[in-house]
Amino acid sequence: MKLFVSEGNPHCLKVLAALEVTGAKCDVQYVNHEERVVPFLSRPALPALLLPSGLHLFSSNAICRYLFEVNGQDSSELCNQWLEWEATELQPALLQALHMAVLQGKGSEVSKVLQGPLNYLDQSLSKKNTPYLTGEAVSVADVVLWAALYPILSDSSLALGDRKSVKIWFDHGAAMHSLQCAAQKVLQGKGLQGMKSYMQKQPAPQSSQCRDTQPCNSSPAESEEGERLVSEEEIEAAALTWSKSLNACPLVANRQHPILPQEGKRNLLVTSALPYVNNVPHLGNIIGCVLSADVFSRYGRLRDWNVLFVCGTDEYGTATENKAREEGLTPQQICDKYHAVHSSIYKWFQIDFDYFGRTTTEKQTEIFSGDSTSTGFLVEDTVEQLRCESCQRFLADRFVEGTCPHCSYPEARGDQCDKCGRLINAVELREPQCKVCRQTPVIRSSKHLFLDLPKLETQLEQWLDKSTSTGDWTANAKQITRSWLRDGLKPRCITRDLKWGTPVPHPDFKEKVFYVWFDAPIGYLSITANYTDKWETWWKNPHQVELYNFMAKDNVPFHSVVFPCSLLGAQDNYTLVNHLVATEYLNYEDTKFSKSRGVGVFGDMAKDTGIPSDVWRFYLLVRASRGTGFSLLLGRHGYEKQL
Ligand code: 2FM
Ligand code: ZN
Repeated sequence: MKLFVSEGNPHCLKVLAALEVTGAKCDVQYVNHEERVVPFLSRPALPALLLPSGLHLFSSNAICRYLFEVNGQDSSELCNQWLEWEATELQPALLQALHMAVLQGKGSEVSKVLQGPLNYLDQSLSKKNTPYLTGEAVSVADVVLWAALYPILSDSSLALGDRKSVKIWFDHGAAMHSLQCAAQKVLQGKGLQGMKSYMQKQPAPQSSQCRDTQPCNSSPAESEEGERLVSEEEIEAAALTWSKSLNACPLVANRQHPILPQEGKRNLLVTSALPYVNNVPHLGNIIGCVLSADVFSRYGRLRDWNVLFVCGTDEYGTATENKAREEGLTPQQICDKYHAVHSSIYKWFQIDFDYFGRTTTEKQTEIFSGDSTSTGFLVEDTVEQLRCESCQRFLADRFVEGTCPHCSYPEARGDQCDKCGRLINAVELREPQCKVCRQTPVIRSSKHLFLDLPKLETQLEQWLDKSTSTGDWTANAKQITRSWLRDGLKPRCITRDLKWGTPVPHPDFKEKVFYVWFDAPIGYLSITANYTDKWETWWKNPHQVELYNFMAKDNVPFHSVVFPCSLLGAQDNYTLVNHLVATEYLNYEDTKFSKSRGVGVFGDMAKDTGIPSDVWRFYLLVRASRGTGFSLLLGRHGYEKQL
């Protein structure tokens, strides 16, 4: 075995540390940073390990793991999880921190870049009663993380703050002769400056700003437009895997239901926003709602993460009542019809849900009558509303029309005037009319329940600070959330005078149902409950489970503010969002997709083209990954040419 390393390269510190600790038998050769020691790679890759078989390993963590394995120490799942965290979360931040400290003289800003990963490490260590990351003995995870952090943590001028558990753990490592010896070999006793010549030859890392903005590429190989250049080896490897069929991969094939959180695994609960049932989904819904979550879940399963991916139709609310009236069916019939339409389109698109449910189930009602509504965070208030006596119902905003009180436009809607753009309270409309029967509605007072968001605001902000600094939040999701919080939260009405909805389990509100946006996210819980009786092991288990919410960007505030507040208010240790991925809108040519105007490509139309769904999936993902706002450019040239 021969290990190729170069001085001042922080990745080489990891492998030398592993070599020292394990005492594995291996020649070490120092080469310069540019040397191409792996013959089939078109770029220099150091460190690299030449195996007795003649094969090469050229990822530092794989080399470390191998050295431990030949020493008879196979890595546990927990170990692997730490190695993955190191490679995907810690390294990008570290590279940026090193770049700032070594090349830019911005040592004072390093602590900001690293605070997320260091806090996570500190919290994880503090929860354990063992001196090392995975138990009583040093494992490959300790060695890799220690060596990765050594250049930074051993430099006291960086003022990284005091993290007690990290410090104890780090000092344990520093007391080991083998680790000190590896550090000395790579840094030559020069500290961070020992890495200068190596760092100067590296491409500048992407800034954290860029990391927040999807998509951004982690590979140094980029074309002039900033697109990632895929290497020949990667293409070949992908083609080989594809030709063997991914389904043959044991990680994908051996999925056993019900999937439940497992000790020592990365447990990911993935949701995609629940689509309404008032139409056939269009490609914008598919990419925004379910395709991104599907691709991420597939990726997670291939990485041997324990993933549960749930979704379902959002069936209550005025949109459903409206559609039912339009089609001359009952709301339940509409839900049944469109639930089936959605299921079959997603099936054709190969969206691999673990469970695709719906919100109109008994479990949904049960969850509401359980602890989630018996909270000290609800307040009652009286609201004035328009009621149509001839239709015998209160009118939702979209069912009223009248003259705008601001500009006198005669066809203003119940919530907004299309001419002057001002927001309107429906009771302020002059000469209001019921849109269904054209009668004049009357004003009636009605008592409603409100979620006391101001009372939950501090708790929510604490959670968001942590979640947005340690999780994957797209830039648009963070920005929309910030702008909601900026003006302070107001109590939010969560009940409606409608028939089609989850009944409110309170004697004073017997005639009312929950507002669809309060109801829908609870659908994630009830859908999981319909999948497994042990749903609470996912939803009341924040220490073991990470929650990923995927959605189109208009859904962000409901997932980052309202839904977390509903769960916090229930005070029952619910799992809150850790990662929030919001997709930009998909345009059709240069205009918006619109169900009502019939503009766009709908799921069934895509299917009828005869073009396989894999091609559609690929095309949508490529377009979606081009940044903020993207268009489907099909109309002018026809599908075949574009795809
Ligand atoms: O925008 C929509 O299509 C909503 N039905 C999304 C609901 S997401 C969740 F909260 F259920
Ligand atoms: Zn009416």
